[in-house]
Amino acid sequence: MKSTRLLGLLMLVTLAFGHGADDRQHYIVYMGQHSHPSSKSVVSANHEMLTSVLESYSGAKEATIHHYTKSFRGFSAMLTHDQATRLSACVIYKEAVVSVFRSRLNHLHTTKSWRFLGVDSIPEYSKLPMDIKADVIVGVIDTGFWPESESFNDYGLGPMPKKFKGECVPGQNFTKSNCNRKIIGARYYSKGFEATNGPLEKSNRTFFRSPRDTDGHGTHTSSTIAGSRVSNVSLHGLASGTATGGVPSARLSIYKACWFNGCEDADLLAALDDAIHDGVDVISMSLGPDPPQLNYFEDVISIGSFHAFEKGIVVCASAGNSFLPNTASNVAPWILTVAASTIDREFPSYVLLGNLKQLKGFSVNTSPDHVKQYPLIQGGVAAASGVPSRNASFCKKNTLDSNLIKGKIVVCTLETLTDDRKEKANAIKAGGGAGMILVDPLAKYVLFQPVIQSVLIGQQEAQELQSYMNTQKYATAKIYQTVTHIGIKPAPVMAIFSSKGPNIITPDIIKPDITAPGVNILAAWSPLATENTAGNSLDYNIISGTSMSCPHVAGVAALLKSIHPNWSPAMIKSAIMTTAITTDNTRSLIRSDDSTYATPFDYGSGHINPIAAANPGLIYDFDTDDLIKLLCSGGASVAQLKNLTATPVYCKKPSTASYNFNYPSIGVAALTGNLSVYRTVTYIGEGPGVFYSKLEIAGVKASVYPDVLRFGKSGEKMTYRIDFVAYKSSNGSLFGSLTWMNNLHRVRSPIAVNGVSV
Ligand SMILES: *[C@@H]1O[C@H](CO)[C@@H](O)[C@H](O)[C@H]1NC(C)=O
Ligand SMILES: *[C@@H]1O[C@H](CO)[C@@H](O)[C@H](O)[C@H]1NC(C)=O
Ligand SMILES: *[C@@H]1O[C@H](CO)[C@@H](O)[C@H](O)[C@H]1NC(C)=O
Ligand SMILES: *[C@@H]1O[C@H](CO)[C@@H](O)[C@H](O)[C@H]1NC(C)=O
Ligand SMILES: *[C@@H]1O[C@H](CO)[C@@H](O)[C@H](O)[C@H]1NC(C)=O
Ligand SMILES: *[C@@H]1O[C@H](CO)[C@@H](O)[C@H](O)[C@H]1NC(C)=O
Ligand SMILES: *[C@@H]1O[C@H](CO)[C@@H](O)[C@H](O)[C@H]1NC(C)=O
Repeated sequence: MKSTRLLGLLMLVTLAFGHGADDRQHYIVYMGQHSHPSSKSVVSANHEMLTSVLESYSGAKEATIHHYTKSFRGFSAMLTHDQATRLSACVIYKEAVVSVFRSRLNHLHTTKSWRFLGVDSIPEYSKLPMDIKADVIVGVIDTGFWPESESFNDYGLGPMPKKFKGECVPGQNFTKSNCNRKIIGARYYSKGFEATNGPLEKSNRTFFRSPRDTDGHGTHTSSTIAGSRVSNVSLHGLASGTATGGVPSARLSIYKACWFNGCEDADLLAALDDAIHDGVDVISMSLGPDPPQLNYFEDVISIGSFHAFEKGIVVCASAGNSFLPNTASNVAPWILTVAASTIDREFPSYVLLGNLKQLKGFSVNTSPDHVKQYPLIQGGVAAASGVPSRNASFCKKNTLDSNLIKGKIVVCTLETLTDDRKEKANAIKAGGGAGMILVDPLAKYVLFQPVIQSVLIGQQEAQELQSYMNTQKYATAKIYQTVTHIGIKPAPVMAIFSSKGPNIITPDIIKPDITAPGVNILAAWSPLATENTAGNSLDYNIISGTSMSCPHVAGVAALLKSIHPNWSPAMIKSAIMTTAITTDNTRSLIRSDDSTYATPFDYGSGHINPIAAANPGLIYDFDTDDLIKLLCSGGASVAQLKNLTATPVYCKKPSTASYNFNYPSIGVAALTGNLSVYRTVTYIGEGPGVFYSKLEIAGVKASVYPDVLRFGKSGEKMTYRIDFVAYKSSNGSLFGSLTWMNNLHRVRSPIAVNGVSV
């Protein structure tokens, strides 16, 4: 936290200095804690280090702007890109971890993920009067909230919106005074959970029969959406800065319907029911069924959110963390289904091997006490008696011989992608081990908080480690403290765990809809939730999941609702989806990992872009009648429809094809021969507007009619048609996009066509 403050001051200084006429830029070289006896010796060590890339001591002295000599060690200097790159190549220099990053003015004053999304620079929102911003209410169905968290302070907020009909329900360690002008309502539901699982008391876990959160999850999601600004927060010094929700002036109404990681359907439905009645504008649900999800008529999240949609409430829900294709949940077309991706920040923890090679890993190692050289051992050669070597290589409970691992860093591998990392670290700690290096090639960047010094490394690092251990009888390693790096490229990258489409219930509707930051997100926490924090009581915590991305989308929906109070949920959804971006901060297409590009089945329409969503130009609108038609085309029975609508509804014949449902993305689950898809757009703008089409898709012939849309005034609608003609070779998933554009707008729909050869 100290570092961010100092960096901030430094950047103001830089502005006054300006940039020289050369191609040098201002870089910060940060080296964490230092062991120098005096500031003078830091300065000369800094100059010495810089001399190694500038080749002259006087040049080094001239280039440096600031030395950090008090709380930590580092300096800033005017460097060329090449010099900075060479400096950052010395990842560890004389025991200090070196990180080099461009100094930019906007590195301060907001939680990283929201700044990554640019919500601070939406003129349509920032110019709104406070009372309008404060009139939007977000309902969060989750594990409750921690009322004493600074993120829920209500400084500067006026009386609660008159439209709100909710309540602050008292309970265990929770009184009406635990609500305020930020948290205007709080309810809890346990009957359904207890009916199925027995009384809460039976769990042997800490809980409160009240909206008070002992899990942390609900505190994290709700503060991500609308937490107040709180400066100087971090996780043990990592990710330090100011925490804020996406809409810090909006109100929250909390519905605690989840206990010990489980949310019983009955409780969820009661919560949805109350939230709709209470008058919230947006509902955020970072929860969902295990895949495969049930059809909409039997799934309470689908049912409850249908009613919310009918009442004009936007419902955002997470797609899930199931890694695989066909696992996306909460796929109803009236839900905004959210995938997860990274931001431009990472938390490396370097490993220095005995041969002085360094490996880049990731972790949360914050204690300096364990930064020491320890012997290395493979889990597989430290098997407890009677345990096969292969089993011990996974370092699970009761598989390691404590005589062999005592005082050593144990190298472990995964049995499955979803192995419990905590169990491994615990097993090593229990056996007296000093640390863990876990080979986790796909998810290494997703942090966990180990009870002993640990790092997650990828395949390349694992090979390097292996060849060192093969050649060295007494192999050793030292695991350094974790540092925060920002400005990481590429970003966003899809999170490996994010559940993927296609949509198994309505294959013509692409799911998920959108991706948003969901990897290593810092937000408020419950100090009683210590199960996954290595036993530490925390006020702010870093966690990952589509649970973390969903609140970002809910926050943007709330922001759009402030700017456009009359927009329907479908309009808000359309604005968010059609303005999403599909490129990363290197201007390349968003990737799903190192070797492949993401597809609409990973991220739907792309990465959320709040600035553009505020002013989308065209809207794909639909209402409940359209939804009924869609369900009818899927063969819904009267009884099924009644479950959704609560009144009898009959399907009209002939039904319209579900690929013609006016969704903001375009999916065709089975294309054989020729097929035409129709969409209707509504123009939203000042004066007349003209939009030109750009249709891109490979593997199938496609054309759009008309290919120019001319509107006289806002509110006008026009229908267009896309004709697809399959080639003989059009087989399997074919992806593309249709964009309507002019110099103000870019209205993009991804296309996913599944060619079925006959
Ligand atoms: C909850 O309330 C009880 C009784 O007032 C008190 O003893 C206990 O410390 C409280 N727990 C917390 C975590 O505040
Ligand atoms: C709860 O704790 C009690 C006493 O410590 C123990 O007998 C019981 O088995 C525990 N129950 C569960 C579900 O762990
Ligand atoms: C930031 O918080 C830390 C403890 O979390 C504290 O030591 C430090 O003084 C704070 N800094 C400021 C400027 O408030
Ligand atoms: C070793 O692991 C396999 C599964 O990976 C398991 O079936 C087996 O029981 C384990 N053996 C021992 C001795 O733990
Ligand atoms: C209606 O919903 C309930 C669950 O809420 C489910 O058990 C029932 O099967 C559904 N009815 C139909 C006809 O799908
Ligand atoms: C498909 O479209 C092509 C050209 O667009 C046309 O020549 C052909 O007759 C159409 N086939 C069918 C079966 O409609
Ligand atoms: C189309 O793809 C499917 C599955 O990928 C394959 O089984 C089938 O043989 C393919 N058909 C043609 C004509 O290539």
